[in-house]
Amino acid sequence: MLPHELPSVALIGLGLAISYLIITRVQGFLRSRHIPGPFWTAWTDLWVIRAQLSGRFCFILQDANKKYGPIARIAPNWVVCGDAAELRRIWGVRSAFKRPFWYRSFRFDPYKDNAFSTTDDQIHEALRAKLMPGYGGKDVDNLHQLIDRQVAGLVSLLENKYLSSEGEFKPVDLARKVQYFTLDVISALAFGKELGYLEADKDLHSYIATTESTLPIMLTIGFLPWLLRVIQSPRLKAFMPDIDKVVGIGTVIKTAHQAVAERYGEKPVIKRDMLGSFVAHGLTREEAEGETVVQIIAGSDTSATAIRSTLLFIITNPLVYRRLQAEIDTGIQEGRISSPITDAEARELPYLQAVIREGLRLWPPATAALPKVSDQDQVVCGVHIPAGTNIAWAPFTFLRNKETFGEDADVFRPERWLNIDVDRYRTMDQTVMMEFASGSRWECLGKTVAQIELNKTYVELLRRFDIALLDPTNPWTSFNAAVFIQSDMNVKVTKRDLA
Ligand code: HEM
Repeated sequence: MLPHELPSVALIGLGLAISYLIITRVQGFLRSRHIPGPFWTAWTDLWVIRAQLSGRFCFILQDANKKYGPIARIAPNWVVCGDAAELRRIWGVRSAFKRPFWYRSFRFDPYKDNAFSTTDDQIHEALRAKLMPGYGGKDVDNLHQLIDRQVAGLVSLLENKYLSSEGEFKPVDLARKVQYFTLDVISALAFGKELGYLEADKDLHSYIATTESTLPIMLTIGFLPWLLRVIQSPRLKAFMPDIDKVVGIGTVIKTAHQAVAERYGEKPVIKRDMLGSFVAHGLTREEAEGETVVQIIAGSDTSATAIRSTLLFIITNPLVYRRLQAEIDTGIQEGRISSPITDAEARELPYLQAVIREGLRLWPPATAALPKVSDQDQVVCGVHIPAGTNIAWAPFTFLRNKETFGEDADVFRPERWLNIDVDRYRTMDQTVMMEFASGSRWECLGKTVAQIELNKTYVELLRRFDIALLDPTNPWTSFNAAVFIQSDMNVKVTKRDLA
């Protein structure tokens, strides 16, 4: 090409790019204009990207459902659904819907899929079959003991370092300590030994800081498939940072690789723990490395959010607080609660169970878009949804639905779970368990682990301590970027007389 021809080639390129942009925008508008939603969402993805970056993602989706109905357009190729029955159908085990490309943003290694990121149903099913026995605890000798050990770690951290008394004031950011706890639980399960956050009482290797800054960006890129394709293109690998060397997450990846390495090779270590179960069920070494990292990322923020928010609701509701502590105290006196409480004992405490469900309902921890897609046209909530449209969910909409949960659905009231007829309880429970994707082929693999954590933590803390919020007018910093990033839940912890 001659130098004088360059400007005209550039002009042609620019013209083609602009034409492509206009054509795709018009196509987007034509296919989605009949769906109710904010005006600009028929033309551009910017609305949803802005929502994702705003720190109020889940509430913006809830507002969209409030304003436009149970199905609302949030981008030319995206809608959000807040109707529990329709979501159950979409997510159902035998539904025609699948995971769309968006899930590729959960590739922690840009070039390899894991159970969370794969969009291939067959690969996903095969992976789940190998992972389920380990996650369910069936093959794991010491699941409960490992969790008990970390609960004891959280208790001793508070007892030894942050116990206030008449003469001493030792405020503590409970949001952070709870995250140390869930990170230690999950790493103990994944690696056979906890990473040691509770003992160090600090953000080791800046893992929390790094994931807090990268996860929101990763999830935003999910709305920009072209960018995701570029980042994950093997052809551009040479220009991308090596994930193992990224501060924080790199350490977790390296630890995962070390833990996995000793289970494979010529003299593999055989253990009846979670990783041992994955190996025994035929996970390849590469798959095991990937799944171990997923475990840490999927299992720490979610459970931490559940524990923090439920604790916040407990300590700011005197009636709930008193009733729960009374149930715990009576259980201890009557010998129905061991030290530490077992999972089975916790399941027999009706008020505790009501508190746990109410916490998950009012402040659901898994709030990413988690879209599903069908390759055929569909009708959802009476609205025609063209094939290929991403259908996101809005947990804050269906978990605060007044028909399902009552007129005061926006309020933390565990009593709504007590003394009600079986059918009503079943409907409410089924709706709350959707937060774990129950009833779908993507059901949370860590549900059992999460439930054990919740069953134990509140009892072990509240049997020993009184917890008071330092500034009830400013209880925490909570930023929703599809995952919750929470801190500054500053409390005063004192010892209870009864303990
Ligand atoms: C309260 C805590 C938790 C909540 C609310 C929660 C919620 C969810 C949801 C909604 C999904 C489905 C995502 C989708 O496919 O669209 C999921 C998947 C998953 N969760 Fe959890 N989770 C929690 C705790 C945990 C824990 C503690 C672990 C690890 C021990 C874990 C591991 C996983 C894994 C591996 C998947 C992928 C399952 C698959 O693709 O088949 N989660 N979780």
